[in-house]
Amino acid sequence: MDTAGLEARARALAAAGGRRILGIAGAPGAGKSTLAAELVRALGPGLAVVVPMDGFHLAQAELERLGRADRKGAPDTFDAAGYVALLARLRERAAAAVYAPTFDRALEEPVAGSIRVGPHVPLVITEGNYLLHGAGAWAGVRPLLDEAWFVAPDDVVRVRRLVERHVRHGKKEADARQWVVRSDEANARLIAPGRDLADLVVEEDGFREPRPPRAHLPRTPPDPARPPGP
Ligand SMILES: Nc1ncnc2c1ncn2[C@@H]1O[C@H](COP(=O)(O)OP(=O)(O)OP(=O)(O)O)[C@@H](O)[C@H]1O
Ligand SMILES: [Mg+2]
Repeated sequence: MDTAGLEARARALAAAGGRRILGIAGAPGAGKSTLAAELVRALGPGLAVVVPMDGFHLAQAELERLGRADRKGAPDTFDAAGYVALLARLRERAAAAVYAPTFDRALEEPVAGSIRVGPHVPLVITEGNYLLHGAGAWAGVRPLLDEAWFVAPDDVVRVRRLVERHVRHGKKEADARQWVVRSDEANARLIAPGRDLADLVVEEDGFREPRPPRAHLPRTPPDPARPPGP
């Protein structure tokens, strides 16, 4: 299945009744924001709204106070607990609209109250790096997602696009490469294991179902101290 297949899957989720949350995870530059935007374009704003995890970046001044500004984008440079609390509110589908923050790439700052999620929108698509990162407060995200997808294009292509995007946003090519190698790719290694927690792995030209349901995997590894056979 291709993008149309993903669109059909999102549409089915929107029609499933009540408020549903679709999470899209993946490494930096994997194409999460692009895919989420495509889905909203296809479904229309009455059916789906994007709430980016990026809106929960800590403010630059707070990162400097904490001494973490040089690794902006790492798991502890976000307000993960705040993100989990917002997802919990969004699941409730309250009578009133819920506002979500966004991240302004030009300002490099989060901006509160940017995205309005109306009470009748059935599908919230949330996307970001650490949706399936099980550590600390991030562990609270997965149980709030009705479905989780992991976007995994070819790494060479992903890194090239990432460098190009940094250059478009004003970095010199050499600085962009250095940032990608030092920062983005360190984060990519933390994000990679999340693939195993996804319901669906989205590859470059479509998607494939992930491995069989976890219950079908062997429950215990073989004991090396006990040779097989009688
Ligand atoms: N299918 C695609 N074909 C071509 N270019 C793409 C595709 N998907 C994404 N891109 C480009 O790759 C770059 C990264 O995509 P995008 O910003 O959607 O990634 P992301 O996963 O949201 O990254 P981040 O984790 O940094 O937010 C962008 O410049 C985007 O235009
Ligand atoms: Mg993005």
